[in-house]
Amino acid sequence: MATLTWNQACNVGVQSIDDQHGALLDALNELRSALLKGSESKTVRTMLRQVRELLEMHVASEEQMLARAGYPKLEAHRAEHKKLLARLALYDSRFESRQSDSVFELVEYMRKWFTSHTAVSGKVYGPWLLLQGVR
Ligand SMILES: [Fe+2]
Ligand SMILES: [Fe+2]
Repeated sequence: MATLTWNQACNVGVQSIDDQHGALLDALNELRSALLKGSESKTVRTMLRQVRELLEMHVASEEQMLARAGYPKLEAHRAEHKKLLARLALYDSRFESRQSDSVFELVEYMRKWFTSHTAVSGKVYGPWLLLQGVR
């Protein structure tokens, strides 16, 4: 599995969003290390919940920021978030039925999602937010 490293391409340019993305990536890296170490399922479950909570909080705050600034492509962006959250819920329930390999798949899926979501969509809304005076 590829290592999750912070990529300059993922920088959106709005500090609060970049900070939240960084925290999310850190939590994802911790989860990945726990899986590689073969940590017990209780630990993995806790970390998975943490990733999910961080993501939910981040998505809510990002959507609120975009809505407040009147971002024109908000609905499409919201749809990308929804897709990931639905996937996360699915893996969460698979893990509950003891398919821990699926958590590896989830981390990989999130890594790809995160990279394309921030490097593509983030490059659209980031400069747009900065133009609106959002910091
Ligand atoms: Fe984001
Ligand atoms: Fe986003």
